[in-house]
Amino acid sequence: MAERKVTIGVLGAGHVGAHVAYALGMMGIADVVKICDPKEAKAVSERQDLMDAVYFMPHRVDYQLADYASLADCDIIINAVGDITLCATGSRDDEMHYTVRQVAETIPKVMAGGFDGIFINITNPCDVVTHLIAEKSGLPKGRVFGTGTLLDSSRLISAIAQQTGIEHHSFNAFMMGEHGDRQMIPWSLVNFRGKPLAQMEKDPRFQFDKEAVRTQTIKAGWVTYSGKFCTEYGICSAAATLARAVLHDERKIFPASVPLDGEYGESGIFCGVPALIGKNGVEEVMEYELPADEMAEFKACCETVRANIARAAALLGK
Ligand code: 2OP
Repeated sequence: MAERKVTIGVLGAGHVGAHVAYALGMMGIADVVKICDPKEAKAVSERQDLMDAVYFMPHRVDYQLADYASLADCDIIINAVGDITLCATGSRDDEMHYTVRQVAETIPKVMAGGFDGIFINITNPCDVVTHLIAEKSGLPKGRVFGTGTLLDSSRLISAIAQQTGIEHHSFNAFMMGEHGDRQMIPWSLVNFRGKPLAQMEKDPRFQFDKEAVRTQTIKAGWVTYSGKFCTEYGICSAAATLARAVLHDERKIFPASVPLDGEYGESGIFCGVPALIGKNGVEEVMEYELPADEMAEFKACCETVRANIARAAALLGK
């Protein structure tokens, strides 16, 4: 029986790229994973290590080394190009001067091979680099998006679960805005199986310190970074989960870095908001009514992203 194999490319075989490749196998998402990194020795080693894990995966995965052109037949490419050491300052923006140049060089090479699938970007600053990939690839709107505030949302949910003792999937909460220091919590939308937080927190058993939750969420990446000098498990799980939503046409709503085209009164930027993810990538950007203070906070996040997109353009001499 001839069958179409689900093929996912991973650009960059550093900590994050290698862990994404592992998650795609371990979560049973891909049949073929193409690893593309000009650092050949690193790519060869990562591929060998991954091949050694295939026996333990839910189904057989073929890990291949690929150059840019041979990513053409991928359903999805996950971009994880970067230099995490540049984030040692505690700001994802400090990776920008390196990553925007890398991406500006790499994406045209991938597109020249004829790639016509979906890009999911991880590389930081995530919203800025996702915008650049959309521009450089010329792919239709929705076919390029980033992990954005999905990882931050997972951190937020974890913090609330720890403080309230309520299990992660029994409530809705997410981060919006920049995948960076300018991210915000729309508290007005947090609900426990439909029971709004404002009602829930009247019960002393479920009260929690919102500022502590916010700080824990935003600082989580730096707690991880400070001892191991990278972050990998959370982000690779987020990227693989988004890939699965596309491949299974899940039409599931996730916070992600998506193009804003009038939603929330914003245009011309990618920013973290909930969006419907299906076989065409971002199928709909979800627009929620926010109270004035939360809307103002979200708009401040958008301003930060917009200023960083302008900085990236200046770095590229545009
Ligand atoms: C993270 O939040 C550093 O962006 C990376 O884990």
